[in-house]
Amino acid sequence: MEWPWLFLYLVLHIAGCQKTPILFQTPGRIIALNNSTTEIFCTMKSEQLSQLGVYWYRWSQKSQDFQYILYATVLNKHTHGNDIDKGRFTVTKESFRNSQTLRISGLQHLDAGTYYCTVSYNSKLLIGNGTELTIVDVLPTTTKPTEKTPPPKKPSGCRSSGTASVKRKGRALPFAGHLCKM
Ligand SMILES: *[C@@H]1O[C@H](CO)[C@@H](O)[C@H](O)[C@H]1NC(C)=O
Ligand SMILES: *[C@@H]1O[C@H](CO)[C@@H](O)[C@H](O)[C@H]1NC(C)=O
Ligand SMILES: *[C@@H]1O[C@H](CO)[C@@H](O)[C@H](O)[C@H]1NC(C)=O
Repeated sequence: MEWPWLFLYLVLHIAGCQKTPILFQTPGRIIALNNSTTEIFCTMKSEQLSQLGVYWYRWSQKSQDFQYILYATVLNKHTHGNDIDKGRFTVTKESFRNSQTLRISGLQHLDAGTYYCTVSYNSKLLIGNGTELTIVDVLPTTTKPTEKTPPPKKPSGCRSSGTASVKRKGRALPFAGHLCKM
């Protein structure tokens, strides 16, 4: 069962060259706590995703491998991959939003990777733009973006004309213009 991954790999590269992705995923990036639950949305533009079966895959950085997660049929029957915990990976359909949601509960470190939804449409394989999932034990503290302390306004040099114009916008240093005209 080596060839499907090679095939998918090649298709991913071809899909990357398309100008308008028809299938897209949100969010692009998730940082989730160990043992928590997360959701990845797959949406199809202009076509009815609810009338198609959807395959979900993940690229695992650790094992350097594509893993088949599950296939959800039009009637939303799931067929899971061999190593995939059926209880933790579920898909729900939201016809009104024309999207599918992959829900992963009891997140483990080995769930980390980049997740892709794919559909076969008009004998083409369409692939979502990917969702990178990172599992952490402690969420990074959401520090407020602290106000940058203004750089010292010492006229220590004239590295660029940009520096000079910035200075002129604010309180112009008496010698800034002079120093920078050289
Ligand atoms: C994929 O596309 C959606 C919609 O344009 C965007 O919100 C999301 O961030 C994109 N994901 C990546 C990984 O670029
Ligand atoms: C992640 O959580 C599980 C239980 O939910 C725990 O057994 C495991 O030690 C945790 N992993 C780490 C690296 O803390
Ligand atoms: C993992 O989460 C489940 C449900 O949220 C909870 O019942 C369980 O105690 C948690 N395990 C650990 C080790 O935190």
